[in-house]
Order: sequence, then structure tokens, then C-alpha cells
Amino acid sequence: MPPVPATTIIPARRVQGTLRVPGDKSISHRYALIAAVAAGASRLANYAPGADCQSTLACLGRLGVDIQRGEQGAVTVVGRGLRGWSSPSGPLDAGNSGSTMRMLAGLLAAQPFDAQMIGDASLSRRPMRRVIEPLSRMGARIEATDGHPPLTIHGASLHAITHRPDVPSAQVKSAVLLAGLYAEGKTSVTEPAQTRDHTERALAAFGLHVSTTGNTITVAGGQEAIGQALAVPGDFSSAAFWMVAAAALPGSRVEIHDVGLNATRTGLIGVLRRFGARVEVHETGSSAGEARGTVVVTGDRTGSIEIAPEEVPGLIDELPAIAALAAHGGEVSVRGAAELRVKESDRIAVLVAGFRALGISAEERPDGFAVRGEGAPSGGVADARGDHRMAMAFAIAALAARSPSTIEGSDAVVISYPGFFDILGRLVA
Ligand code: S3P
Repeated sequence: MPPVPATTIIPARRVQGTLRVPGDKSISHRYALIAAVAAGASRLANYAPGADCQSTLACLGRLGVDIQRGEQGAVTVVGRGLRGWSSPSGPLDAGNSGSTMRMLAGLLAAQPFDAQMIGDASLSRRPMRRVIEPLSRMGARIEATDGHPPLTIHGASLHAITHRPDVPSAQVKSAVLLAGLYAEGKTSVTEPAQTRDHTERALAAFGLHVSTTGNTITVAGGQEAIGQALAVPGDFSSAAFWMVAAAALPGSRVEIHDVGLNATRTGLIGVLRRFGARVEVHETGSSAGEARGTVVVTGDRTGSIEIAPEEVPGLIDELPAIAALAAHGGEVSVRGAAELRVKESDRIAVLVAGFRALGISAEERPDGFAVRGEGAPSGGVADARGDHRMAMAFAIAALAARSPSTIEGSDAVVISYPGFFDILGRLVA
């Protein structure tokens, strides 16, 4: 086996600096997908540079959508209208990206051709019944292996459904709403708890009518999007690692500009304040319904926090980072987060193993974890197991250690945050 790329993390007393983070991954996927079925071209500024969002563009390219790359991360997607995609000559590779596979499945379910979607080893282990079931009810036929990729999607003419998912999932909601654009009648999703609402905002930005009443979101079929010029805000989930680093290391201060502040994503701000950090938020504007602004986090003192199950949907991608809050001192306890087990890795098992390897006390629960910091940990060798957010969480935790640590599989950061380690080097200098 080839050696796993590893990165050494030198302990740091504090982090300090001003920065921007790459474009939001969730919003980029949605803009690209909707642009691809819009009439006319869309220019997407600050499109996410990570491998996941490039997987979405590559899949769209194979469906006959022209993609042009511009300066500073801008991407132009030349939409082919609701019915203009062409049958792909081979499988569509979603790589590591659950968002690509699940949301694109919604659009493929309505096409007059068959398509196969494949993914890497991690994605091939992830549950797909949650999209297969509603899309099948709408009329598509989807083959999978025991509910896992590869997916073979036999598109059909769809009819509207009302879907009530068991687990809160923005990807599932989005797949059904995107399929709903092609269905006869009105398609609704009633969520068990609110999840990120970027799809709803993106559909509206592309000129489509979407209505939300309580936790029910409805779209009517037959609406065609119109190409737009849109700018993607910085990714709050990438900013989360620097916010946590500043909160975990007293005496730190980081200032992050132009970051997305959509309220369905920013639960971390309250968590950091509860932990004892000072967090200032200045909203500077909003585009396409997505607020953006500056966040300043100053590390002050460490505390103990419990994350309750109802907070989890608003923090789901930040939980690995939140664990690192307690690396130096304090306690973080999480319940009601069993979904973490079906992310890019089993994030509960991988997190607990990695934190222990760094010398930090961590306990595994069926639906969460508890991490307790007792002063500077020893440091050690933590394996990210191919999961981008685990690599970044371990790197932040390792800053608090007494001696250098090694993060194995650190190259996984390219999935959402290429350049993460360069920025880390700048903030600790
Ligand atoms: C995402 C939704 C969440 C999140 C993922 C991105 C999205 O997944 O964990 O990283 O962009 O809709 P689920 O829909 O599986 O909860």
C-alpha cells in the first residue's frame, strides 16, 4: 500500500490573524445543479474550490452541460434548460461527495435516459435509501446494492409527492424538491427538524417559486430556472475550524471576512459563547438571500458545554470541530448525533480513536461522544481515515498538545478546504 500522506502539527499557544475562507460547499453544489437546468448561462463567483464541488461540475459536464472556469474561482455553467441534458456515455463519478450523489439523483430521476452514479470507497458505504425511497415513489426506478452506491437511475416522468423523511437531511429535502421541478403537481417535504435552507433560497434566486410553511417546503412542477450571476459566500463550516481554534486557545483572536451567516448554519456561534469565547458578528450584506459578514472570535476562558439533540441539525458539520474545543481544557458532550456515523467516515468512532491517540480523554456513545481536556495533552499520531473534517479537527486539537503530532490522511482536506494547512501555518506564526 502507498504511504498515507501525513502532516506534522507543531503545538501553538494561540492563533491570530485575519482571513477569508473558500466559497461555501453546500451553496456551490446547489448553484451549479440549478444553473445546469436553467435557461441561459450562470456566472458563479467564488465557487467552492474543494474536490466535492468539482465532482458536481464533472458530473454535469458528462451530462452535456458546458462548464467554463474563470478567474478567482469563478465558474460559468451554461444551462440547458429543464430537458436539455444528454445521456452520459459512462458512469457519473461523485467522488467523496454525498451531496453530489443525493442531489443529482433528484434531477436524474426525471431525465428521459438512464444514468449510473458511482463514488469512492467512503461514498460507496453511505446510505442511499433515503433518496431512493421518495424518488421511487415519484415514479423513477433506482437500483442500488443493499441501499448503497453505485446507483442506476432509470429516469421517468414524475408525479408530485409529499415526503416526510425520518431523519433531518438537507440533501434528501433538496433531492426531492429538485425532482419536484419536473413533477406534475406540487411536491412537498415536511422535515422532522429544520435543516440548512440553501436549496430553497437558491431556487428563489434562480426565479422559481418555493413556499415554506413551518417545516414544510413546497415547489410546483414545470417551473424553469433562469441563468443568474451569483456570488458564493465563504463557507461557515470551514471557518468553524479557525473559530474553534481561537476559542480553545485563550489569548487568540481570529477575524474572518465575507463568511456565510445563514441562520440554519451558524449554531456554532452560540456554542462558542457558551464555552466561554467572545464572538462578534457583523452582517455586511446579503446576496441571493444568503447573509454574509465578519466573525471575530477571541479566546477568553474554557468551559463545559452539552450539545442537545435538537441543536444537532444546525451543527452537524461542525461537531468534529466542536470536539476540538475541549482539547486543552473543559468538556464537550454531544447526544442525538447518530447521523455522524454515516458521514464521510463513522465520525463518532474515528473522532474518539483520534482524540485518544492525541492523549485527550474521549468517550464514545451510540449517538455522540464526550471529550474532556485536562491541560495540554501529550500529542500523538491521529488517523483522519480519509475524512476531511476529521483531519482538520485533529489538526486543531493537536495545537493544544505538549509535543508535535502527526495527522495521517491529512490530504483529505482537499475535499472542502484545499490550503487549510497553509492557513494554519500563517495563523500560528
Ligand atoms: C449537506 C447536508 C448535510 C451535511 C453535508 C452537506 C448539504 O448532510 O452534513 O455535509 O449540503 O445539504 P445531510 O443532508 O446528510 O444531513
